[in-house]
Amino acid sequence: MSTPLLFTPMALRGLTLRNRIVVAPMHQYAAENGFANDWHLMNAGRYAAGGVGLMMMESTKVERRGCGTVGDLGLWDDAFVPGLKRIVDFAHACGSSIGIQLGHSGRKARVARPWEGGRPLQPDPAIADWDAWELVAPSALPADENAPVPRALSVAEIADVVQAFGRAAARAHAAGFDTVEIHGAHGFLIHEFLSPAANRRADAYGGSDANRRRFALEVAECVRANWPEDKPLFMRLSVDDDAGWGPAESVALARELKAVGVDVIDCSAGGILARPVSSTPIGYGYQVPFAQRLREEAGVKTMAVGLIVRHDQAERILQEGRADLIALAREMLYNPNWALDAACKMGLPEAFASVPPAAGWWLGKRAAAMPGLVTSTGTGAVHLGKGQAGNGSGPHPQLPKSLLQ
Ligand SMILES: Cc1cc2nc3c(=O)[nH]c(=O)nc-3n(C[C@H](O)[C@H](O)[C@H](O)COP(=O)(O)O)c2cc1C
Repeated sequence: MSTPLLFTPMALRGLTLRNRIVVAPMHQYAAENGFANDWHLMNAGRYAAGGVGLMMMESTKVERRGCGTVGDLGLWDDAFVPGLKRIVDFAHACGSSIGIQLGHSGRKARVARPWEGGRPLQPDPAIADWDAWELVAPSALPADENAPVPRALSVAEIADVVQAFGRAAARAHAAGFDTVEIHGAHGFLIHEFLSPAANRRADAYGGSDANRRRFALEVAECVRANWPEDKPLFMRLSVDDDAGWGPAESVALARELKAVGVDVIDCSAGGILARPVSSTPIGYGYQVPFAQRLREEAGVKTMAVGLIVRHDQAERILQEGRADLIALAREMLYNPNWALDAACKMGLPEAFASVPPAAGWWLGKRAAAMPGLVTSTGTGAVHLGKGQAGNGSGPHPQLPKSLLQ
């Protein structure tokens, strides 16, 4: 049996991912004054120990005022490095690579956690540095009619934010991360500069397409300059935001990003308008066409994300050349052992060796002793050892038709 593409290692500069399964960045809203804690260790650890190729940590802010909520992680100070290094070392001990997304919330800063309503926060004596937590943006335009009006950044301040991204990248290297991803999507600061819906500047950072791309490119160049040559650099874009920034603009930007040293574009959508998601119809793999288009037209490696839930769906996206990497977010929350489960369902001989022996050794023994064992994820989850009946790709529950289209 040839190795599925999903489990074929991938080299990116000096990094080799053990497979092409990536945990998409997911805010945990759990940091304390920007510091990582046990929750983050557990969260990254469960995916790393579940066999993923790359665990991408959540959007971690390069400036205090860039924090979205009180629970955002920070990298605006060296003091944050040791807490993150502990997580990096743990992921590495599990055999997983680990990256971190660098972000700035811009005009979408200072809101409540989603499950607390997600609305703009009101001044609160419990937040000691409230005044420093200022909303900034390319233009003084609120994110929606109920949001506070941000302050437009001056040209000198823009240069400072660019440098803040660079310094955060250097700290990410000091913490031992294998890659960083620049967050240029979802209506946050970089995307605000890109989108004509949020950027009405009349200087070198607004107006023409090239001017609106300037901040994103300067950030990418500065991060690249502060990030080792042999480590890959990712950038996430909202390829289509339904408000004037679309796939053609993203292709043009992706070409320029590639030229300044961005290795992978993580293709998402939406976030600049008040509604939470874009008008792209939500369905299985709904954003895969964006990854395909940028891969084909910009000649850049891409990562697909968005309702990718099944191993056979993921494999097909790769086989059809629509993306180079597969990222999963909510399905990983549901099943942190997704990568192990996929390896078993695809009949990989070394499936159980991909997770630490504290789990893998026992699961291998059980599979050998119980051919055809039914598990919580179906019979397909049982890898059968060499010489035993079956190939581990047993019957699956009925697939919705749209899943494989
Ligand atoms: C709890 C949660 C937190 C998220 N936080 C981030 C984040 O920090 N940065 C980001 O770019 N996207 C974030 N996202 C979006 C996901 O990375 C992903 O693009 C989206 O959930 C679609 O993928 P899925 O269908 O596999 O969940 C988050 C999603 C969830 C569910």
